[in-house]
Amino acid sequence: MKRILITGGTGFIGSHTVSCLLEKGFDLCIVDSLINSSKKSLERVKEILKKKNIDINEKINFFKGDLRDKSFIDSLFKSSAKEGKPIDGVIHFAGLKAVAESVVDPIKYWDNNVIGSFNLIKSMNENNCKTIVFSSSATVYGNNSDQLISESSNINTINPYGSTKLVVENLLNDIQDKNSRKWKIAILRYFNPIGAHHSGLIGENPLEKPNNVFPLIINAAYEKDRLKVFGNDWPTHDGTCIRDYIHVMDLAEAHITAIDYLFKNNNQLINLNIGTGKGYSVLDLIKTFEKVNNVEVPFIFSNRRDGDSCKLVANNLKAKQILNWNPLRSLEDMCRDGWRWKQMNPKGYF
Ligand SMILES: NC(=O)c1ccc[n+]([C@@H]2O[C@H](COP(=O)([O-])OP(=O)(O)OC[C@H]3O[C@@H](n4cnc5c(N)ncnc54)[C@H](O)[C@@H]3O)[C@@H](O)[C@H]2O)c1
Repeated sequence: MKRILITGGTGFIGSHTVSCLLEKGFDLCIVDSLINSSKKSLERVKEILKKKNIDINEKINFFKGDLRDKSFIDSLFKSSAKEGKPIDGVIHFAGLKAVAESVVDPIKYWDNNVIGSFNLIKSMNENNCKTIVFSSSATVYGNNSDQLISESSNINTINPYGSTKLVVENLLNDIQDKNSRKWKIAILRYFNPIGAHHSGLIGENPLEKPNNVFPLIINAAYEKDRLKVFGNDWPTHDGTCIRDYIHVMDLAEAHITAIDYLFKNNNQLINLNIGTGKGYSVLDLIKTFEKVNNVEVPFIFSNRRDGDSCKLVANNLKAKQILNWNPLRSLEDMCRDGWRWKQMNPKGYF
């Protein structure tokens, strides 16, 4: 079975993907600096797989370290090769992701996301590992007014976080020499991942106050702290912004199909939108959460936020066709699973 290096593998999307990859039998090297996650997520992944009678002990190798330390990354490639199990491919999740923080401290974001990715890609090149799935984001489309955003929609980043994603996309485009095509690259542009593993054992565990609407809804329901909904005067059916929410397990499964696709096909670079193709407003999300979980989500309206877009929904046909992947879980599932995670782990992994 192939050995995959997972960067950011103890984080929200990383830990769910790790559980799916182990279930499929892959052998994993997991790297994380733990700047925004806990190693306990991997203990929980082991618990999930134990319940399914899947033996993974030899296949889960964790290394604490920072991608900005290139000698650390080099050592992972070298020691894997020495063991006779060279790293065949990389799924690169590691990065900082808080848009607002990136505006306040852009250097921190360029340092972590760009230097870290550059070191990783350079080390892959030197160690002749040329298969990578990269976590990009719909944020590279900026304030796009297309009804559905396709991969060829206008790219226009509007914050430093988005710029760091785009610059890594550009680097990956540059190293893929159009004539000789030596790499296998999948750039996945995620829309809005929410929810949690159905078991309630792993989920989103931000170490700082969350920025995204779903963890804020969960906190509002749990702590009875009022959620701020930014703007009720957008030109949508109820005046609130529309987004494409995707269950984190559907997103995790997209990574399995993406790396599998790269392993089985010729050298290439593909950009793929990973969303459901369905748009829901913030009020739709709140109402669904209240209904399926039988809880109240207190909220107030406040002014529109600078830089927000009215509607961002994916055209996901390319991912469906190329990867033969389909998002299976509903908004109700996302709300139920996210709430189960919170109730079982009110303080996250602590
Ligand atoms: N969650 C979202 O809404 C979303 C949307 C689009 C794209 N993404 C991207 O997906 C990836 C994963 O996001 P997530 O939601 O799981 O975030 P997360 O913070 O839960 O996971 C990221 C992980 O990377 C680790 N990390 C950060 N910098 C590192 C470094 N320099 N070296 C080693 N480890 C480092 C963190 O400790 C964390 O465990 C990120 O690159 C993010 O930008 C996330």
